Amino acid sequence: MRKLFLIFFSLALAFTMNAQTKASLGLIPVPMKSKVTAGQFVFDADTKVVLTTDNQEMRNAVVTLVDLFNTAAGYSLQLSTAPQKSNAVVCKLNPSISNNEGYKLSIKKNLIEIEAKAPNGIFYALQSVRQLLPPEIEKSKKVENVTWAVPCAEIEDAPRFTYRGLMLDCCRHFWPKEFVKQFIDLLAYHKMNKFHWHLTDDQGWRIEIKKYPKLTEVGGFRNRTLKGAYVAPEKRQWINERYGGFYTQEDIKEVVAYAQKRFITIIPEIEMPGHAVAALTAYPNLSCTGGPFEVEGLWGVFDDIFCTRDEVFNFMEGVLTEVIALFPSEYIHVGGDEAPKTRWHRCAACQDRMKKEGLKDEHELQSYFVQRMEKFINSKGKRIIGWDEILEGGLAPNATVMAWRGEKHGIEAVQQNHDVVMAPNTYVYLDYYQSKSKMEPHGIGGYLPLWHVYSFEPVPASLTPDQEKHVLGAQGNLWTEYVLSTDHVMYMVYPRASAIAEIGWSSKENKNYDHFYARLMQLLKRYNAMNLNYNRTFLSEDRTTK
Ligand code: ACM
Ligand code: ZN
Repeated sequence: MRKLFLIFFSLALAFTMNAQTKASLGLIPVPMKSKVTAGQFVFDADTKVVLTTDNQEMRNAVVTLVDLFNTAAGYSLQLSTAPQKSNAVVCKLNPSISNNEGYKLSIKKNLIEIEAKAPNGIFYALQSVRQLLPPEIEKSKKVENVTWAVPCAEIEDAPRFTYRGLMLDCCRHFWPKEFVKQFIDLLAYHKMNKFHWHLTDDQGWRIEIKKYPKLTEVGGFRNRTLKGAYVAPEKRQWINERYGGFYTQEDIKEVVAYAQKRFITIIPEIEMPGHAVAALTAYPNLSCTGGPFEVEGLWGVFDDIFCTRDEVFNFMEGVLTEVIALFPSEYIHVGGDEAPKTRWHRCAACQDRMKKEGLKDEHELQSYFVQRMEKFINSKGKRIIGWDEILEGGLAPNATVMAWRGEKHGIEAVQQNHDVVMAPNTYVYLDYYQSKSKMEPHGIGGYLPLWHVYSFEPVPASLTPDQEKHVLGAQGNLWTEYVLSTDHVMYMVYPRASAIAEIGWSSKENKNYDHFYARLMQLLKRYNAMNLNYNRTFLSEDRTTK
């Protein structure tokens, strides 16, 4: 009995120590394995960053940390390729590490050593170092009297999933490119690696397409916007101001390059066949009825979608050719959600298409649309990803599905041997309310407090181990109908996105909300140093109310 008690006692102690150790390092997402050792490594103006392999990607991996020191510490960490025995951060590629994004980080009093299979892992190791530095490292100007030290520790880390992302809707409200970069910075800080850029919708077309200039000249601007809540038509109020904006191709190149330096892939979304009113306003010939249309100032789902005449496919191929040239991403997101079939049902050309192609209903016509675009996108060496409605009427052969209407659509895709990204509105819709406080700004609805977001498990319990491999990861989505400023974006996204980051990166065994919460308290000091407008309501949360 005593023996049993001792075993139990040491197990409990080991568990608590493990939890405390991880908590005291304060890393989010929590690493696979970590151990704090005695002492600390102190940076100074002589500290070198050693690249044992010197190439552009390795330089990209270290530049974020170097920049932080330049700003907050007021000195630069010198890059070197010569071996150093002390006062250095040595970054070494080690092909024996199995995970492309994994790393080993050893912090000793006189030396920091990092090993990774690829520069991606070096980058993530340095994001860990960044999180171990005093929070003042995040300040945007020089801070005096800070000892730039990190605790000695041994960390072995690798992500659970290859897809760890956030989506930002830049159509309902438009976010300037400098803000998009800041958004990307924070993704990288949390070791996320995908930015899903929602670029076209009913309320605005936000990407310059040289072949079709009216898409942004006309489709990039609306004449009015719904004011406040979505109410019955007779009660609606409008902001009668021209509103809009778009990213030029030069802007896009700049943001793509910025993201690449932070090991983030940007997945552009060009919505089809629905959410197309802005495009149809610019080119009404692409609709079933011929229009005219107005770029929408109201939110919702609209009947006017792209027609299925050859003319539309030619247009789409023109658009996608330019999009593909701009984004190195393997994936192109083709939307596919919320496309009412009302117009197609009454359109002679669409009905003709169905007859000619032997399609039994309009769902099959949507499937035809997506499959035809997939063929084109595949022919350019790229793959499609789409919202889970692309399952309806038959899934395109090589498509990846982004499951947003709950996990059952993810399961359905996996059962058809397709890859999925889990982004269910039951857990990770960042436009939903995060508290019951009356002080929350008006939102679209829903209720997804931090603790609930954290409880999300991307792999449905019903999947077999073989099927599990099809779950690429998780993504949080911010739709911006009711999000009115960049500060408001951050308010909706953080800290819930830190929970999504941990879901995507950390092992299931290492997930624990109390433990996460303790680490988040440390992370908040960093958010404060960044001047980030995060939501604080979770600090007085009631974890029992659903
Ligand atoms: C979606 O939320 N309509 C994908
Ligand atoms: Zn039509």
